[in-house]
Amino acid sequence: MTQSQTFPLCNKFPKVSIIGAGNVGKTLAQKIIESNLADACLLDIVEGLPQGIALDLTQATGLEFHHRSIVGTNDYKDTVNSDVVVITAGIARKPGMTRDDLLKINAKIVTEAAQKCLIYSPNALYLVITNPLDVMTYLVWKTTNLPSYKVVGMAGVLDSTRLQAFIAMELGVSFNDVQSMVLGGHGDLMLPLPRYCTISGIPITELMDTETIERLVQRTRDGGAEIVKLLKTGSAYYAPASSAFHMIESVLLNQSRLLPAAVYLQGEYGLKDIYLGVPCRLGCGGVEQIVEINLTDEERKILHNSARSVRDNIDLALEQLGMKH
Ligand code: APR
Repeated sequence: MTQSQTFPLCNKFPKVSIIGAGNVGKTLAQKIIESNLADACLLDIVEGLPQGIALDLTQATGLEFHHRSIVGTNDYKDTVNSDVVVITAGIARKPGMTRDDLLKINAKIVTEAAQKCLIYSPNALYLVITNPLDVMTYLVWKTTNLPSYKVVGMAGVLDSTRLQAFIAMELGVSFNDVQSMVLGGHGDLMLPLPRYCTISGIPITELMDTETIERLVQRTRDGGAEIVKLLKTGSAYYAPASSAFHMIESVLLNQSRLLPAAVYLQGEYGLKDIYLGVPCRLGCGGVEQIVEINLTDEERKILHNSARSVRDNIDLALEQLGMKH
């Protein structure tokens, strides 16, 4: 019997390359291999770092009973034939550094990484995590010339899972019974939508008063900052890694889940030529559908304010990169 007759479906396992072996990158890599979702390639600019993490995770393989492999590397050649490329490389803001400085540095890191990955994985889906998220996702799309359905940013799932957690904690209900939705840019101007949050189908507006909802919404807006303050060095990475995993799973298993994510808008919600968080369907084709939901005038105003701030930063980043808009 030939091998192809014996294992007709096992020619290739999915491969996910993760650029940036920091807290988010290594946590995501661990989740991907230990859940048997895909083989992983972890790349970082720091020599030895991704290799050390990959070796450590490989040594745990027998104990975790999984069948996937991980490679740590500083060479983009090893990312070849990825199905998904995750970009989570970048630097955090340091004392004395302005937001503009950070934007410029991360824009350069992210666009160079995306272009190098593109050489080896032209058909992959590109998932961007580096902040400022919506701007970085736009730059990856713009500088790679990939179709917009192949470039997506991770933020809405993270912001929504934070709101979900705060609602569940407040009401003492199962996290699994809470559905939540947060749109807009990943930042202070995000748009949490309590009207679309439910507990097993019951709108939270029937279970909580307005002040409580407003408090949870504000805590969601400050969700990242609250963790930075507690950790003192570094920022959140478990929930960001879980959020990215969720999106990758929907793509590789073709689940077509409806998730909020930063996608390229071409007129939806009255916005054009921008990446912003809205509900979309994610499957093996990438962003398969952008879903427009009804917003009140006030919600629409917040979304457009959020878009304006993202747009200003996109323009600034393009200028810094010497690219015409
Ligand atoms: N190429 C490859 N890797 C790079 C490069 C580069 N040019 N520049 C920096 N890196 C790597 C760093 O060496 C580091 O290992 O990116 C990694 C970033 O890791 P952390 O500092 O631990 O940051 P992390 O918490 O993982 O967050 C990464 O995701 O959620 C966002 O705001 C967060 O933008 C940040 C990103």
